[in-house]
Amino acid sequence: MAKLISGKEVSAKVRAEVKEECEALKAKGIRPGLAVIIVGDDPASRVYVNNKKKACAEVGFVSEEYALPEQTSQEELIALIGELNSKPEINGILCQLPLPKHLDEKAVINAISPMKDVDAFHPSNVGRIMIGDYHFLPCTPAGVMEMIKSEGIEVAGKNCVVIGRSNIVGKPMAMLLLHENGTVTICHSKTKNLKEVCAAADILVAAVGRPKFVTADMVKDGAVVLDVGINRDENGKLCGDVDFAAVEPKASYITPVPGGVGPMTIAMLMKNTLMAAKIQNEL
Ligand code: GUN
Repeated sequence: MAKLISGKEVSAKVRAEVKEECEALKAKGIRPGLAVIIVGDDPASRVYVNNKKKACAEVGFVSEEYALPEQTSQEELIALIGELNSKPEINGILCQLPLPKHLDEKAVINAISPMKDVDAFHPSNVGRIMIGDYHFLPCTPAGVMEMIKSEGIEVAGKNCVVIGRSNIVGKPMAMLLLHENGTVTICHSKTKNLKEVCAAADILVAAVGRPKFVTADMVKDGAVVLDVGINRDENGKLCGDVDFAAVEPKASYITPVPGGVGPMTIAMLMKNTLMAAKIQNEL
């Protein structure tokens, strides 16, 4: 039977540390501020944005929400980002993705000042992560690493397999595991022998976005399984990319969905915003 790594517990610890540091900053007259931009009325994005604002209040940050209508133009959005880039009380800027189809996501990410890019999506920050000289780590992969570290799980020398190659999760996840000296393989839709590759993993990260994609035959006995997916199953119930009931008996550690990686993402966003405030105040 696997040990559950609780994202609720690990994220609460991260948020408590951020809160403590935030109080120390307040004593110096600094209050970290995060601007969250949401364009349109995607219900999932609305939930995420509300959770981010709530987390800010809890750790003692100021948060500003910019809810723009669906038909906002590229120029209007870029102009807002420009204003926020030069607003000293805003240390972090996050534009909730996905954006409506008529907006150019790449151009929007590029418009955010790298020093305020608390998602770590800007090419400059992505490059910094690649060479191991970074201020911010992308929130979801950083959250997965925090969960691995919370259990004292050694990554060095282990076979690490990441399923999924997105810019937001799969690719940076592989890089962070590599920084910890893992032997890393990235799998994707064109991978041959996916089952065999996954079944050789000591540490398996699922970031495919398909409900219960990872089945028991893809998991080695004693593997550490980290599930980044947030999906709905055939009954509309929240589930991950891992078939939890079938995989859990084989794994040594596993993250649940919900209550696993999900809460970590927001906790790491708070950590990045704190870091942004410290850097911008030359601390
Ligand atoms: N949409 C889904 N996840 C994320 C995230 O981590 N950051 C942003 N900006 N948008 C998202």
